[in-house]
Amino acid sequence: MSKLKVAVIGAGSISDCHLQAYASNPEVEIYAICDLNETRAADVAKQYGASHVFTDYRDLLALPEIHSVSICTWNDSHAEISIAALDAGKNVLCEKPLCQTVEDALAVEKAVRRSGKLLQVGFVRRYSDNAQILKTFIDEGELGEIYYAKASSLRRLGNPGGWFSDKSRSGGGPLIDIGVHVIDICWYLMGRPKVKSVSANVSNRLGNRANVRNLSFYKAADYDAKQNNVEDMANALIRFENGASLLVDVSFTLHAKADETAVKLYGDKGGAELEPEISIIGEKFNTILNMTPQVDFKSFDFMGSFRNEINHFIDSTQGRKETLSPVEDGVEVMKMLCAIYESAREGREISL
Ligand SMILES: NC(=O)c1ccc[n+]([C@@H]2O[C@H](COP(=O)([O-])OP(=O)(O)OC[C@H]3O[C@@H](n4cnc5c(N)ncnc54)[C@H](O)[C@@H]3O)[C@@H](O)[C@H]2O)c1
Repeated sequence: MSKLKVAVIGAGSISDCHLQAYASNPEVEIYAICDLNETRAADVAKQYGASHVFTDYRDLLALPEIHSVSICTWNDSHAEISIAALDAGKNVLCEKPLCQTVEDALAVEKAVRRSGKLLQVGFVRRYSDNAQILKTFIDEGELGEIYYAKASSLRRLGNPGGWFSDKSRSGGGPLIDIGVHVIDICWYLMGRPKVKSVSANVSNRLGNRANVRNLSFYKAADYDAKQNNVEDMANALIRFENGASLLVDVSFTLHAKADETAVKLYGDKGGAELEPEISIIGEKFNTILNMTPQVDFKSFDFMGSFRNEINHFIDSTQGRKETLSPVEDGVEVMKMLCAIYESAREGREISL
């Protein structure tokens, strides 16, 4: 049987996780790579044995034999490339965030309907084994009704610079880059309740703190300390129609003692934490129990989750599974992110 030909558009850092995962899927042939930077595209194509290299994604999409594409470009081109790929008859795995505006998210959703093709949003945390363990406990009623959740992704020093801190290409700072993951996974595990309102704050007080010495952090390839117009911290309270609420805080930099990632869920029968480590909190015979699932990775397993995500994507294109992160969820998360920025800008609660 001939293999499914896949292509990756955007050959930077995260593309390697997609490519490693495709390379380990026996049904797939890595067929084409596209990047604005031709040398980068050619190097990656050579590394993964792809026979075709492009600098313009439209030339890649014109190849009828390509079955599916991963979009790993800057956020400003996610919507445009997703729509073009769907209209060209390709299945799409689009990195998070789906795009930069609700309007664009709705246009992508329309293209999914029009084309009848699959678009999976790269909410990779949903595909982690630990998230699926908690999902099983939640679906079986172990937590009861979840009425409160907390999502934190705090870096004390970690503005990556480059396109990440150029609002026109990224759409924003830590909220849209790292906050999107923890907001999405809380919302998913809460059962995707309908958003009612958002009240939020954003700060631009600390800049990128390029002055700090003796502490290293990840820097984008085109890091330029002089360039930064994104927020350094955001917090939000999201209310849902079912009465539940989600408290969020995220930062690229903050005068905090340490970095912190938290995904915590509180129900009327029990609680659970996905981050910093998986645990389930219950009560039995008038005694509180903190239960620790015995698993290989207590925290987020980065590469294992990408493998699960890519395998699930391929299975879904073949009708063997349903994607865990459909376009509608990308649209809803986009509404939350945009409402957070709007609430902070206007200094008031936004009703959705
Ligand atoms: N799921 C995750 O955990 C995760 C982690 C990191 C990044 N991401 C997402 O992945 C995407 C890429 O991030 P990255 O860290 O790899 O960035 P990066 O800067 O390392 O790579 C992006 C690449 O895309 C190329 N590119 C940009 N626009 C293009 C276009 N129109 N056509 C072709 N190539 C184009 C750039 O030249 C660059 O090589 C972003 O949307 C980011 O939010 C997701």
